Amino acid sequence: MSHPVAEERPAAHGDALNGLRTAIAEAPDPAAAAQRVVDLLHDRFAHYDWIGIYWVDGTDLVLGPWIGPEATEHTRIPIGTGVCGAAAESGRTEIVADVHADPRYLACFASTKSEIVVPIFDGGDVIGEIDVDGSDLGAFDEMDARFLEEVAALVAPLRPRA
Ligand code: SME
Repeated sequence: MSHPVAEERPAAHGDALNGLRTAIAEAPDPAAAAQRVVDLLHDRFAHYDWIGIYWVDGTDLVLGPWIGPEATEHTRIPIGTGVCGAAAESGRTEIVADVHADPRYLACFASTKSEIVVPIFDGGDVIGEIDVDGSDLGAFDEMDARFLEEVAALVAPLRPRA
């Protein structure tokens, strides 16, 4: 799988953020907007093989919109469990270059080799996260992290109301 070279990515990221703002503004409701976000990320970035948004529900993360080759069985993850639960607990972005070398990893797909998880905040509280799986080792770097943190800020207002 080819990755955009580093110099090209700021432009691709800026362009994607503009596309996301438009898609969110034009969507009929927050759930549709959140689905458009994962769909657009999947279309634009070939190394984002599976993308899901999890929302915090009490002490769990619950899967919202997702796109990718397969559904995951991990539709509800306790905060503190897995790479997803670690990022929700700490409020820090997790970049895992080799999921099989990380004892926290909860396996979803045989094809996954690396993962990035970026918290979504409302003020100081983690209200969800963006989880991206990659089928290459080390698919994600700090540029993906900074980009997905900007995406997370766009997504925060789309949290379903209880
Ligand atoms: N791998 C994640 C679980 C979610 S699936 O990747 C969709 C984890 O370790 O928390």
